[in-house]
Amino acid sequence: MSKKLVIGAAGQLGIELVLALQSKHGIDSIHIADIRVPENEQVLKSTFLHLDAIDEGAMHKVLEEGQYEEVYHLAAMLSATGEKRPLAAWDLNMQSLLNVLEAAKEGWVQRIFWPSSIAVFGPSTPKKDVPQNATLDPTTVYGISKQAGEYWCRYYHEKYGVDVRSLRYPGLIGHRSVPGGGTTDYAVEIYEYAAKGKPYSCFLKADQALPMMYMDDAVRATMELMAAPAKNIRIRTSYNLHAMSFTPSEVGESIRQLAPEFQLVYNPDQRQAIAETWPDSINDQAAAEDWGWKPELNLDQMTQLMLDAFRAGVVHTKP
Ligand code: SER
Repeated sequence: MSKKLVIGAAGQLGIELVLALQSKHGIDSIHIADIRVPENEQVLKSTFLHLDAIDEGAMHKVLEEGQYEEVYHLAAMLSATGEKRPLAAWDLNMQSLLNVLEAAKEGWVQRIFWPSSIAVFGPSTPKKDVPQNATLDPTTVYGISKQAGEYWCRYYHEKYGVDVRSLRYPGLIGHRSVPGGGTTDYAVEIYEYAAKGKPYSCFLKADQALPMMYMDDAVRATMELMAAPAKNIRIRTSYNLHAMSFTPSEVGESIRQLAPEFQLVYNPDQRQAIAETWPDSINDQAAAEDWGWKPELNLDQMTQLMLDAFRAGVVHTKP
């Protein structure tokens, strides 16, 4: 039981996590699953399983046959897309999680990673330095599914001893994969436009601060959480996680230090209303204490890496 499976391997986080797991554990120890084929040659060197995560029978067949040491279950519909298809988002986000939790209860999976999000917070949550046990007040279907999922994770841990671990990710920013359907996606697109010398029209307001994280930090957090001894994991809902907090206008300034001609305009859409319910910054003291979490990159360091990568064309995003 030393194989690991990434479900949702074609997604923004899936591609990055598979690349990191392959380089740590070897291509053959990683299996990848998704409903669509990942657009990345390196990722596809691992065994690919075509899988609809909502299909209980198909999921249980894969997990019983695979007897995986670790399953990273990332398949989900994000905040903006979820608002267009609320019931489909609920079905996908909940049913797929329950499918994996049930498989672990049966003993087919030793350890599960499942992502939660800052979308569990809402209008009655403090805006700054949100404590681990702050009020959860989700306003999107995505956020409601993450809140419910957190409690399902703790339930399976407490009732059945399932070793399931989770992080409340902020907006994730990387250059090896495209984000899809999130409210924080602007923070990836803005770099791609800037690197290509194009003006960018931002769908959030200039002063909308949100918690964000460079992808390498997010992947490292995930792998460190999964490598920690089970006794250290005191929180079985989901850990707060923080790296940086910035507004679109602050990213624009950071970009202009390296690309002075960059032009940024603002045309807020329905995603602004979602962003307004989320906090600016998160307190991640529990993650630091329990398994040693420490972010490494700040905004300007990330800007340099993102622009360099997009300018060099060493990216796997669609044009
Ligand atoms: N990045 C996600 C979104 O914007 C938040 O978890 O939906």
